[in-house]
Amino acid sequence: PRSIWLSRHGESMYNLAGKIGGDADLSPRGFRYSEALPDLCRQSGITPQQNITVWTSTMKRTIQTAQHLPYNKLQWKALDELDSGTCDGLTYEEIEEQFPEDFRARDDDKYNYRYRGGESYRDLVIRLEPIIMEMERQENVMVVTHQAVIRCIYAYFMNVPQDRSPWMEIPLHTVIKLTPKAYGTKEERFKANI
Ligand code: G3H
Repeated sequence: PRSIWLSRHGESMYNLAGKIGGDADLSPRGFRYSEALPDLCRQSGITPQQNITVWTSTMKRTIQTAQHLPYNKLQWKALDELDSGTCDGLTYEEIEEQFPEDFRARDDDKYNYRYRGGESYRDLVIRLEPIIMEMERQENVMVVTHQAVIRCIYAYFMNVPQDRSPWMEIPLHTVIKLTPKAYGTKEERFKANI
């Protein structure tokens, strides 16, 4: 690929409540990010002539984030957020209270810990293999997805060992542009003013 653009969805109502998982709408601030995104994309070097495709997950918060982008769009189930199983819809405090052993087990080995009825980061990396293969074949693609998913994609292109990806901070309301070069991958970040 020439470049890859990555963005988390805008802030969601669940982000505001500190809950994980779910299929919440964007918050008012998240909607402001969706409105700022076309301009941010232009700032990051996307020109109208570029044949860019925007990939989202099948969740409302990523689709809403991409809604004003004037490019072709495609939804992928494989880009959905890490499945937190029985913990879906809980806050981290509630998980610690209701499933203390799980909470500790995840902290001890976040890469391998699989939520009950859900996924681990290791599962997610396997689920993303076809996506990453397809990204490698594309000319220009922008991926609007979720924090855990971006961590794995970012680690792949930046050559970070995957077992470190669960701890990487991927900020909200920021476009990350990755450009493969002979010597490695160039990274630029563009933060929305919202
Ligand atoms: O909502 C879940 C986050 O995107 C991933 O968070 O650090 O618990 O894996 P995590």
